[in-house]
Amino acid sequence: MAYQVILPAAGQGKRMGAGKNKLLLELNGIPVLIHTLKVFEEDELCDGMILAVHPQDFEEFNVLLKKYNIHKVTGLVPGGKERQYSIYNALKTVTNGSIILVHDAARPFIRKEQIHRLIETAKKTGAAIIGVPAKDTMKKVQVGTVVETVERSSLWAVQTPQAFRISLLLEAYQKAEMERFVGTDDSSLVERLGHPVAIVEGDYDNIKLTTPEDLYFAEAILKKRQA
Ligand code: CTP
Ligand code: MG
Repeated sequence: MAYQVILPAAGQGKRMGAGKNKLLLELNGIPVLIHTLKVFEEDELCDGMILAVHPQDFEEFNVLLKKYNIHKVTGLVPGGKERQYSIYNALKTVTNGSIILVHDAARPFIRKEQIHRLIETAKKTGAAIIGVPAKDTMKKVQVGTVVETVERSSLWAVQTPQAFRISLLLEAYQKAEMERFVGTDDSSLVERLGHPVAIVEGDYDNIKLTTPEDLYFAEAILKKRQA
């Protein structure tokens, strides 16, 4: 089933500390942004990509899209102050289709097979996300002291993409806006509607480039995939 994807790309990359948007950093000579966009460009089910972009990056992003022959971008919208606002700006421009994906531009290693599994699930349930079972022992901590050891078997680390029926995601965003709720992912908005969200097991290597050491992991993942 065809889908469209919203790619929030309007962050500042503060934790990466590169002095610019981390999506412009290069892996194997190609910007992180392009690694991510290529996955969707080359996916026959992808009907269009909408990018949320920081005004300071508009020009550079446009140059890169041309240089790397990315043709499926149907819109560039201005980013907002929070990731959620960036996505909402993009979501408001979606006028057709049934399934929408949200995928962080900072996760370049998502594989097409995983996207397709996710879409199949979202088609049935209306909402599906990708994640992996937690590997570490998890503890709840307050002011430097352990409060509780949380049962690990029920904990998952959640990634993107996250896939939704468009009407459902719009309703979730409208409710969040009305109630001034800001979440760290899209699923949390849909959960607030009381709508069940299915989880599909993904890959541990679908990392988000967040801090400088993630670049080392990224180089290793690329090398492994090219071997
Ligand atoms: N993002 C966005 N708009 C924002 C903040 C983030 O579109 N106002 C995007 C980022 O570009 C990234 C994704 O959301 O692709 C995930 O955010 P994160 O990893 O936090 O990236 P940054 O916000 O850029 O990094 P930091 O929080 O360290 O500044
Ligand atoms: Mg951020």
